[in-house]
Amino acid sequence: MPQIFSKKANTYSRVSLFCLLALPAGAIMAGMAVTRGPAQTNVGMPLDQPVPFSHKHHVEELGIDCRYCHASVETSAKAGVPTTETCMSCHAHIWTNSPLLEPVRKSYETGVPIKWQKINKVPEFVYFDHSIHIARGINCNTCHGPIQDMHITWKGQYFFMRWCLECHREPEKYLYVNPRDPDKDPRQKAFDLYSLNKYGEDLTPIEWRNLEGSDLKFSKDQIAEGEKLVEKWGVKVKQLTDCWTCHR
Ligand code: HEC
Ligand code: HEC
Ligand code: HEC
Ligand code: HEC
Ligand code: HEC
Repeated sequence: MPQIFSKKANTYSRVSLFCLLALPAGAIMAGMAVTRGPAQTNVGMPLDQPVPFSHKHHVEELGIDCRYCHASVETSAKAGVPTTETCMSCHAHIWTNSPLLEPVRKSYETGVPIKWQKINKVPEFVYFDHSIHIARGINCNTCHGPIQDMHITWKGQYFFMRWCLECHREPEKYLYVNPRDPDKDPRQKAFDLYSLNKYGEDLTPIEWRNLEGSDLKFSKDQIAEGEKLVEKWGVKVKQLTDCWTCHR
């Protein structure tokens, strides 16, 4: 890493960084009081929803792509939840008498959206962006747990700062070339996994751990591959741990 700032400039930037942080700190503390309240969802606990929507049914059994319902996940900060129209693209024709789908039909008739309870949330003072993570081939399940196995959706991770930082400090440990198809766009990797599993393909060890949403433990060789990707993609590792990357 070349030295960009002189030692003196570094001291200046530390001082100004301190001033920058002193102000938002008040807002952050105030935010904490709210976000750490009893309403916070626990990891592994399914939340009661107005409709008992099952990812297991729709993803694993029917094979519907995440992007059919979370259409903006690749292109914007938010993944978004699907509109009633998306559900009705099928449920206007199938399972039309199911009592479980009554709230969906009602929402369609009245135009009042279904009020899904939010499960995953970072506090207001944290900036998160889906698209950059998907572009780097980081799997949904790394952050959300084994979604394809969930009948009622639960939270896969507490988004503690130290958890985000663990990957931001050493992204080379999480970026990998899939030996199945090394030239494939990393973006597609995140989505292929579910259909490979559905159609009973033999998964590589990395794919298995991705699917389970468990900690990725890489061999030396894989980490060396990751380092090459950091270079190839110009990932600015130093900036990834800067406060203003996530607090802006
Ligand atoms: C048929 C539509 C559909 C498909 C396909 C789908 N989802 Fe969902 N997803 C929903 C709905 C509806 C909700 C809100 C209800 C809930 O939480 O279960 C949701 C919620 C979520 C949430 C929690 C949102 C929150 O409040 O924090 C995550 C995470 C998620 N989906 C990930 C995925 C992933 C990953 C895939 C692909 C493997 C996927 N979804 C495929 C419809 C879908
Ligand atoms: C691509 C088609 C498709 C879309 C889109 C879709 N579903 Fe389904 N859904 C199905 C099928 C097929 C079944 C039956 C699954 C089974 O039991 O094997 C089903 C079953 C269900 C059931 C269970 C019904 C019962 O009586 O057991 C619920 C609830 C449900 N869907 C909710 C939703 C919601 C909410 C959305 C929108 C977020 C949605 N679905 C979008 C195809 C779809
Ligand atoms: C690097 C971690 C990470 C990855 C990878 C990731 N998510 Fe998320 N997801 C989050 C965080 C953090 C939030 C909360 C965002 C907020 O509060 O603004 C979230 C929120 C969501 C939500 C709730 C609605 C929203 O947009 O806030 C949905 C749905 C969701 N993610 C779906 C997905 C899907 C589908 C994928 C894979 C294509 C995915 N996520 C990949 C971390 C991740
Ligand atoms: C498993 C690894 C991983 C995890 C976990 C993770 N990130 Fe990232 N994050 C990355 C990578 C890789 C990049 C892309 C760096 C690049 O290519 O420039 C990135 C980029 C970002 C960016 C920069 C986006 C931009 O527009 O410049 C933000 C903001 C961010 N992450 C926030 C978060 C937050 C907040 C969390 C925790 C809730 C989180 N990340 C968790 C790997 C991760
Ligand atoms: C990769 C994203 C990321 C970076 C970089 C980051 N933070 Fe955070 N920060 C978070 C997330 C997510 C939370 C909320 C969850 C939590 O409180 O752990 C948070 C919470 C906080 C809080 C609230 C108190 C607390 O611990 O819960 C403070 C203060 C804070 N950050 C300061 C900083 C400072 C100072 C830096 C730079 C040294 C920094 N953050 C860098 C993601 C980040």
